[in-house]
Amino acid sequence: MRIERRWAGLRRLALSAISTAVLANTALAAPEEPEQTTTQATMRGIFVALSTAYTYSLDPDAFADPANRQRIAEVLHALATNTSGLEDHGGGLDASFDYLRRSLSRDAHDAARRFEQGNYIGSRFVLSKITENCVTCHTKLPTKRQFDLGAAFVETADIKKLQPTARVNIEIATRQFDAALETYEEILRSPDTTADDLALFGVFESYLKIALGALDDTQHPVRAFEEFAERTDMPKNLMSSLEHWIETLNALDLHNVEVGELDAARGMVEHAVVDTRSGADRSQLVDFVAATTLLHRYLSTSPDDDLDVAEAYYLLGVAESYISRSYWLSETEFLLEKAIRRAPGSEVAKKAYAFLDEYTRSGYRVTPARAVSPERQANLDELRQLIEN
Ligand code: HEC
Repeated sequence: MRIERRWAGLRRLALSAISTAVLANTALAAPEEPEQTTTQATMRGIFVALSTAYTYSLDPDAFADPANRQRIAEVLHALATNTSGLEDHGGGLDASFDYLRRSLSRDAHDAARRFEQGNYIGSRFVLSKITENCVTCHTKLPTKRQFDLGAAFVETADIKKLQPTARVNIEIATRQFDAALETYEEILRSPDTTADDLALFGVFESYLKIALGALDDTQHPVRAFEEFAERTDMPKNLMSSLEHWIETLNALDLHNVEVGELDAARGMVEHAVVDTRSGADRSQLVDFVAATTLLHRYLSTSPDDDLDVAEAYYLLGVAESYISRSYWLSETEFLLEKAIRRAPGSEVAKKAYAFLDEYTRSGYRVTPARAVSPERQANLDELRQLIEN
């Protein structure tokens, strides 16, 4: 297949680039394009290192084979170096990305360290999870360009044979959003997982984030949800959520928000919070995801009014707490803290603090309530003092 040959060629090229880059102790240089932005250039370096390391990690024997040791160590080192670059210099992204930047860099260093210690299982595990960082970031902003190297990578035999739930993360990490949408629709159609379990595993929120956040597409999810509603194993509450999601999607026009992105998002979040009847109620999911999409677009325009920016962080934090199912990445605390620090004397900071305090104590909605750790308590105390002074 043409595309596979192309990928193999690029991979060789990339690996030689990695060796040079690491020996020179600089960030990995990926194939360059003249019109690249800082973010794109950093991302390409990350992509080349991650895709190579990930491919090795799919084969436990190859990963632990001493013959591959030096090469894998180099790629992991390059991945860590590049993610540090993203963390230190921001990679051209606004501050709402800080949490994920840090999280990615921490995971990349963790994978490299475990590998160096000979903990191959641990290193492979971290590599299998690291793509969650890529996924979370990539579904925040609409995509403007094709990334052909990614298209070639997801067509390789190693990736094609992955389970759809693992493959879809790679598709999003390498920015193949149309392919990811199709994979999610395949997952939604598959009779292997019950409707209830699909909801439990967070398939709906992930799917909506790609459709609305990255692709700006409301009609694909409408069709997919209408088809899904035909399933015979639908619990009653999921059915009523689906009906509401379809209705909301049909009325949604993210291009023409007459009142402005921040005002529109505020209205959506406030209503959705009121209309959520219990911790398990997912009926407002589309509203929350749509609001986060608007807020990220708003923040990406680099607004400078402190109160508005603080409010955008606050609303994002609240919405995220209703959407996010991942124990690995909950941005809620980070975003609420950012809201407080941006405008400590404001009403928004007070609301953000009250929400954060409650959220921390109630166990993040997903785990049972528990005692707050001393570090978290100290942080809460510091934030409260900021507001009071
Ligand atoms: C902190 C947020 C963030 C994280 C984490 C992140 N990305 Fe990205 N990435 C972006 C954004 C934003 C863009 C779009 C840049 C643009 O087109 O201006 C992007 C674009 C890309 C591109 C396309 C580059 C191009 O030339 O068009 C690739 C490839 C990529 N990312 C790979 C990855 C991989 C692989 C990971 C995880 C190991 C990852 N990214 C993690 C934010 C992130």
